[in-house]
Amino acid sequence: MTKAKLVFDPFSADFFDGAYETYRRMRDEAPVYYNDEYDFYALTRHEDVAAAFKDFETYSSAHGVDLAMIRKGVPPEQRSIIFMDPPEHRHMRALVNKVFTPRAIGALRPMVTKVIDQFLAAVNPDRFDVVQDFSAPFPVEVITRMLGVPAEHRQQVRHWIDTTLHRAPGQLEVDEAGWEASVQTGTMYYNLIQERRAHPQDDMISKLIAAEVERDDGHKTQLGDIEIAGFATLLGGAGAETVTKLIGNAVVLFARNPDQWQKLLDDRGKIAAAVEEVLRYEAPSQYNVRYSLKDVHLHGFTIPAGSPVFLIGGSANRDPDAFTDADKFDIDRDRTEAQNVGFGYGIHSCLGAALARMESAIALEKLLDLMPRYELNWQDCRRVNMQNVAGWSNVPVRVLR
Ligand code: HEM
Repeated sequence: MTKAKLVFDPFSADFFDGAYETYRRMRDEAPVYYNDEYDFYALTRHEDVAAAFKDFETYSSAHGVDLAMIRKGVPPEQRSIIFMDPPEHRHMRALVNKVFTPRAIGALRPMVTKVIDQFLAAVNPDRFDVVQDFSAPFPVEVITRMLGVPAEHRQQVRHWIDTTLHRAPGQLEVDEAGWEASVQTGTMYYNLIQERRAHPQDDMISKLIAAEVERDDGHKTQLGDIEIAGFATLLGGAGAETVTKLIGNAVVLFARNPDQWQKLLDDRGKIAAAVEEVLRYEAPSQYNVRYSLKDVHLHGFTIPAGSPVFLIGGSANRDPDAFTDADKFDIDRDRTEAQNVGFGYGIHSCLGAALARMESAIALEKLLDLMPRYELNWQDCRRVNMQNVAGWSNVPVRVLR
């Protein structure tokens, strides 16, 4: 029997449902995969993905980090750190690192705990939807509080992001509703920035207004409104959707692997390792796209300069050449074997990793208290259809007494 044609389609149900079988074939049969329908390349082996993440001189972020953006270019009002190459990236990262120091994040623990407690106190303790009732609303509340967004707009930010990232099968580009949502987000941040310029407060928007960044010509200047709004929009998206997915993925994975949940019940000291394993096993951010600045010769193939190249971290993290029993969900696995690329790698590696780890660990801790034994209503579990973000939109659980 001949094998089915190997197709990796990031806008298909195969991707939305978790394309691990496709990734396995890509690693084995096409380590430099080319998609002739959409005209892009993809790397899936751990060593290739990790090397490409580090090689910013070959793999540029400045043309965008998703396919639609690389084709059209980054709209000027959306230019933010994630779409920059050095030296601009280095300067901007140095600035925002000051706001995201481990100490600054550690100081947020009481606030994060309080937000998590508030949302969990409001759920029906016998049956609730882990994503809709909990992991969707809490991370956006945290990040928008940090930014200084007034309470009445915080949850709205999440609905705008959902609309912008949503993709129907076959849909590459942001649709009309998505554009409208991003304009509304930008306008809300623009108005907030004007308000904080007039009346600074103890929040991130006010700190960004006061900060100075070194420009490529060596001069230091303050950030403009568009730069601050772009960064705030990025944080709202990067800081909310991904943690939402990580918690939803965790609850599904632990339902499938109850022995692993039991390990956490027996030893809460394993929570941090569990967060890393969920991140490895089912990465909320499955891929990041780059634009090749030069010809790349790899495994006997050439990726021409000027090509979109998918770096599929979701596959790298399941590569058996990097991780023993890569397809086994095991919170006790040896973490020194290979780099977990769930937070990216190299210069763009996740700015919010410490915050994401803290939020996820507190959330798991509280879920262990609330639902030491639970079962999923599998029938009503739903996955999201989204650009690069993978996971569940609905994870209904019944708490067992
Ligand atoms: C489980 C949660 C998270 C996951 C899986 C995740 C994943 C990632 C990944 C894969 C990248 C690399 C993007 C690239 O190379 O193009 C990244 C970058 C980034 N993340 Fe996260 N992220 C998470 C949470 C957060 C949070 C909570 C924040 C902020 C509050 C955040 C802010 C950022 C920013 C600003 C960047 C761009 C950094 C740069 O370009 O230098 N992320 N994240």
